[in-house]
Amino acid sequence: MTYEHHEYDVVIIGAGGAGLRAAVEAKQQGLSVALITKSLLGKAHTVMAEGGMAAAMGNVYPEDNWKVHFRDTMRGGKYLNNYRMAELHAKEAPQRVLELEQWGALFDRTKDGKIQQRDFGGHRYARLAHVGDRTGLELIRTLQQKVVSMGTDVFMECKVLKLVHDLEGRIAGCVAYWRATGEFVTFSAKAVILATGGSGKSWKFTSNSWEGTGDGHAMALWAGAKLIDMECIQFHPTGMVWPLSVRGLLVTEGVRGDGGVLRNSEGKRFMFNYVADMFRAETAETEEEADKWYDDHTAGRRPPELLPRDEVARAINAEVKAGRGSPHGGVYLDIASRRSPEFIRRRLPSMYHQFMELAGVDITKEPMEIGPTNHYIMGGVQVDAESAETAVPGLFAAGEVTGGMHGANRLGGNSLSDLIVFGRRAGLGAVAYVQAGAVAREMNMAEVEAAVAEALAPFDAEEGENPYDIQRDLQEMMQANVGIIRTESELLEAAAALDAFSDRLKKIKVKGGRAYNPGWNLATDLPAMLAVCQCVTRGATLRQESRGGHTREDYPNADPTFATFNLAHRSDGGNWDSPIFTERSPLLPIPAELKALLEEAH
Ligand code: FUM
Repeated sequence: MTYEHHEYDVVIIGAGGAGLRAAVEAKQQGLSVALITKSLLGKAHTVMAEGGMAAAMGNVYPEDNWKVHFRDTMRGGKYLNNYRMAELHAKEAPQRVLELEQWGALFDRTKDGKIQQRDFGGHRYARLAHVGDRTGLELIRTLQQKVVSMGTDVFMECKVLKLVHDLEGRIAGCVAYWRATGEFVTFSAKAVILATGGSGKSWKFTSNSWEGTGDGHAMALWAGAKLIDMECIQFHPTGMVWPLSVRGLLVTEGVRGDGGVLRNSEGKRFMFNYVADMFRAETAETEEEADKWYDDHTAGRRPPELLPRDEVARAINAEVKAGRGSPHGGVYLDIASRRSPEFIRRRLPSMYHQFMELAGVDITKEPMEIGPTNHYIMGGVQVDAESAETAVPGLFAAGEVTGGMHGANRLGGNSLSDLIVFGRRAGLGAVAYVQAGAVAREMNMAEVEAAVAEALAPFDAEEGENPYDIQRDLQEMMQANVGIIRTESELLEAAAALDAFSDRLKKIKVKGGRAYNPGWNLATDLPAMLAVCQCVTRGATLRQESRGGHTREDYPNADPTFATFNLAHRSDGGNWDSPIFTERSPLLPIPAELKALLEEAH
């Protein structure tokens, strides 16, 4: 077959914050750059990081600095982080935020005109630069403008199926199809950057939109890279629970950062009962003490509602299980009784509209009903901290698709700053690789043909299953068996179910033609969704402890023996149904001076 074909120095797959920031960098260095998105430019999960981007700028609390941010990030990640990523992130985030401002981002301001910073869980100081509760949107808008003004070629509604190597095993490009026509297209590239985001769509309740199907995780795995700590999944404590049609939609942590509190059906601020030992010394014990903290962070102790997300999500889960939940299976998030309507509408305009329009709830007068929602995967492609390069020559990755930066649990607000810090580094890494010259020359066309044949197979079947039925069953199964709290028996059930899904995937039937066929599009997403679920389930089974976004009912404590390595998955064969192997990959040793910083925090 012959295909529409394009050639670039650097191809970036995914046009959220990380992809856009990488494009700016590679373009600035004079390379030819293509940005490919299966969605529309400007539509990415980045916008679901609403409350802000964490950067130790010290605008509100001059005591803040990169060392405190590094410490908070490592502690929030339960020390499973790639320390070097956490260090670079803490050091570079302020500069990246200022750069966004120079490129046109309009942040909220302090009285003396500096970028305003708000509180979020797990951060010692008010640290999140923000634009009301629309920060991710502002980040995307700013970078999108920049990328377009630089003349970057953008390919929208173009779904990448697979990465393609040259005959020596270097990355040489990718094969994709246009969603509008169903026609295939190949891109050859000297370097490819994956910035495809997360995989929440494999769970029933998620803040992710239809794009979050783990494509980049799977493509990296199939291309020979390793995925680490996939079991570490963030259930954001506050998603909408009602009406059902919007269940899972994000309610920003900014509500709690700005003074909102959690109550159960008895009206009690239950978070006081769920303070883990490691946070006890710094967490307030009474409502009065907690409320004082909003006036002066340097004197008081933090409210328990601002514990890291994993702690809060587990507490909500426990309250609902104990029969103290709200009518629709969540708990109450109350800002109405604590802040003025004017304050709420100014600081949280999207939340005000979201609840008013979708649930008929006026959050300036009534509490919100909320519950945990699958929001983010901490696990992902293993990369070099400095260059964002994977184990496959020519393949780079940045943003949610990577693992390591956030360890076992990500602090809110650390995602947007991750995107801009490591998006830039991935751009620079790809440029350095291309300039060094030992790049792929030609795509292995056998790989292209195999990917095309696989994508077309669902049309050939005489009869078979509808992809939507498979997706629904997969989401229900993962929600039930690989959710917030896990047990061995459920994980084994999930593993057996995933084997059965693998058989079902071989028998998909897609009706109609290739042009704008969402059923076919989903059929091409399902192999990636399955690969992610397999790695998550396998990691969750092997990690016989509880740590961050991985909680085992049968192993309720963190086990120090699991704190020294990542669980790394690799594919043997590179196809969606190839066996996956899992091994221990030792964590980078932390240098003495940084270790001392962490010990000080204890
Ligand atoms: O709650 C939020 O605004 C989400 C932020 C994040 O995920 O970083």
